[in-house]
Amino acid sequence: MPSLLNQAALATEAFVKAMPKTQRKQYGQFFTSKETAKFMAELFCLPKNKSELEILDAGAGSGILSIALIERLLQEGHISRIHLTCYETDPHILPILQCNLDSLISETRTPVSYEIKTENYITSQEDSYNDKLGTAPESKQYDMIIGNPPYMKISKNAPEAKAMSDVCHGAPNLYFLFATMGIMNLREDSEMVYIIPRSWTSGAYFKEFRKKLLSQCVISHIHLFGSRNKVFDGEQVLQETMILKVLKTSRKKETVTVTTSASNKDFAALTTFHAAYDQIVKGAESYVYLITDKEEEYAIRRLSRWEQTLKKLGLQMKTGLTVDFREKELLRQTPGHDTIPLFFPHHIKQGKVVFPIGKGNEYLSAQKKALIQRNSNYLFIKRFTAKEEPRRLQCGIYLARKYSEHAYISTQNKINFIGGLRDLSECVVYGLYVLFNSSIYDTYYRILNGSTQVNSTEMNNLPVPDLNTIEAMGKKLISRKSMAESVCNEIIENYIYE
Ligand SMILES: C[S@@+](CC[C@H](N)C(=O)[O-])C[C@H]1O[C@@H](n2cnc3c(N)ncnc32)[C@H](O)[C@@H]1O
Repeated sequence: MPSLLNQAALATEAFVKAMPKTQRKQYGQFFTSKETAKFMAELFCLPKNKSELEILDAGAGSGILSIALIERLLQEGHISRIHLTCYETDPHILPILQCNLDSLISETRTPVSYEIKTENYITSQEDSYNDKLGTAPESKQYDMIIGNPPYMKISKNAPEAKAMSDVCHGAPNLYFLFATMGIMNLREDSEMVYIIPRSWTSGAYFKEFRKKLLSQCVISHIHLFGSRNKVFDGEQVLQETMILKVLKTSRKKETVTVTTSASNKDFAALTTFHAAYDQIVKGAESYVYLITDKEEEYAIRRLSRWEQTLKKLGLQMKTGLTVDFREKELLRQTPGHDTIPLFFPHHIKQGKVVFPIGKGNEYLSAQKKALIQRNSNYLFIKRFTAKEEPRRLQCGIYLARKYSEHAYISTQNKINFIGGLRDLSECVVYGLYVLFNSSIYDTYYRILNGSTQVNSTEMNNLPVPDLNTIEAMGKKLISRKSMAESVCNEIIENYIYE
């Protein structure tokens, strides 16, 4: 039997070699390894009182996930009949899918039947999905759904986005439309196992998806890959990927199992953590916190006790105002009569802002109102860091008095700045630095957002203490005369100690 999975994996490999990447990109194709497929299949709890099963694999590719799941089910023994439905729109891969499924059927004694639907999984179900009056045909329901949906950003006017407008905000991606449609197709008390990017767990674009998913299902298992880019062999996947198992139910759940493996090949050396459900799913934004161990759980639990956010304190973080490559005619290397300083990430050095450094265009001709900001105190935070860098949150304290000859300044859009500090003491800026330069906030942010980008939405919603506490932390930092992470950790520990 295992040879079937190998056969499917080999056929997929041959397809990947033969098809140009640009062609595969059109279909959002990244293929699952046989080890990952097997692992995903094993995540299902078998429906106890059912011997006949309806399975769905939407975006089936060469059918590797279906094969892994059916192989597993047949080994269990008590299943007497299986019907598999695969959706697949790429005509180039359809013969491989059909051949793999035919081999599966010919090699099993248990009756297995399949159908391949070549229509679009999303738009073909548009009527059922949007049926408020109950007049459209009822959507088909399945006992098990397994999937690796296409990863593809689509325009908000794409037919798929229009078909599911209730979950689309900003830039939609096919992967979460597939997952949402999956929930519709999932029978009550049944499970869906999907491998998807982890971007949906935070961020404003995915909020409606999260709300829908979490109102109709509970998360029962999350699997994370320790190492980026190793999930899809030989393919550069920029997004970090996760495996998600949900159960369609209105019953509450106490815990979520979170497993982590080093790669997509070696599932033997797993680490397993059972996290409290209310630590994983939290807050008005319905963020999903990917907690993998006790230390991370500690960070979430401790910081969640603080009830303020930057937003509530009126200290919103914003993205820098100047997109320098679009404003080339306004950039200057040296100061002039109409210029203001333009701050870049490379001006942030060991917690301070160092300017000028005599590199590149450090000044901006102040001709556009939208590009200038008051010379006030700010905390600058780099927007992008390289994935191998030890910290995601890298801050620099900007003090207005150091540049008192300027009424206005500008910031390049690769830095973020926390403003609203104008009428507050300098100690508050130092206090914000203590928070965001501490290890616990860096851990918290990483759990929340797996990308290397620091986003305003998440930052503005992080729990923070009240202004007096922030100010007191700042005072302590000033007295220590060191901006080191370890010093910030020592200071913050006194406030978050249980
Ligand atoms: C990420 S690949 C995964 C393939 C396979 N399930 C696997 O795990 O290796 C997604 C598949 O969905 C197909 N696809 C893309 N858009 C689709 C749509 N709207 N309806 C059905 N299938 C689609 C692609 O052709 C592609 O084969």
